[in-house]
Amino acid sequence: MAEPRPILLDCDPGVDDALAILWIAAHPERFDLRAVTVVAGNVGLECTAPNARRMLDVAGLGAVPVYAGAHRPIMRARGKTSKMHGGDGLGDVGLPPATRAPEPLHGAQAIVETARACDGRLHLLATGPLTNLALALLLAPDLPELIDGITLMGGAAFGPGNTTPAAEFNFHVDPEAARIVFESGIPIVMAGLDVTRQAVLSPQAMARLSGPDAPLQGLCGSLLAGYHDPCLHDPAVVAYLLEPALFESVAGHVAIVTTPGDTAGQSVAAISERHLAGRAPNAQILTGLDQPRFEALFLNSMVTLGTSL
Ligand code: BDR
Ligand code: CA
Repeated sequence: MAEPRPILLDCDPGVDDALAILWIAAHPERFDLRAVTVVAGNVGLECTAPNARRMLDVAGLGAVPVYAGAHRPIMRARGKTSKMHGGDGLGDVGLPPATRAPEPLHGAQAIVETARACDGRLHLLATGPLTNLALALLLAPDLPELIDGITLMGGAAFGPGNTTPAAEFNFHVDPEAARIVFESGIPIVMAGLDVTRQAVLSPQAMARLSGPDAPLQGLCGSLLAGYHDPCLHDPAVVAYLLEPALFESVAGHVAIVTTPGDTAGQSVAAISERHLAGRAPNAQILTGLDQPRFEALFLNSMVTLGTSL
């Protein structure tokens, strides 16, 4: 059997980020989670850092280090806070407080150092604004050669945004960072709203997650009850790494709009020869998802994690 893949999760927990952490934790045979870096996004860094620690602790990943990264976007004042995740970012479900403070290293530096320690095999998962990744690229221009790719949740290639008519939340919060990442030359898999709007759970699955025999003592059900968005955006990234065959995708060139206003963070995707106009694709854009298999995989993983803790 193949060795577990070394990964680093850059996130802004966030209920759906938290569910992504649980899903990673359910698959130690597939994922070697080297570090979690956090960024301001859904809530401020003062919440996302302890939230990552809280989730890793409940998921049995207490040894995984958490590094606090950017407290605001590169060019803008602190990003808009999302209203979707409750006051504390974790649906106010009353998880125990974080057991320890983040490690002293900055998140962007931690990305670089973790990449250097993994000899080109590290894969980055990003489920928040891309500020830390962009800063890491500015710190280490050789970062593209040090990692094997990025799978990220962000953008909306072929449909409307969820924060403005044109832009998705993660890209809208820090458009300049998204632009730096998309212009880096790193192979990117983009799980934007095109596909994450399909990443929903049926009423039957929701009932299973909150019923008397719910895995993880109903933790997923409680988190989802405090989450005011029907889509499991960030878990889609984990699903893709586990089972890429669940997804349909298209190669394209994604340009990020940085002009202030409603189009800030818009992801303009060119996929036809005419629109590419000679540019090489810079992303594999996920467009479709086998929802029943996604849901079954998620439920099975939560049961597996629940029985292993
Ligand atoms: C993204 O924004 C956040 O609210 C979610 O955590 C997800 O990463 C969806 O647009
Ligand atoms: Ca997120």
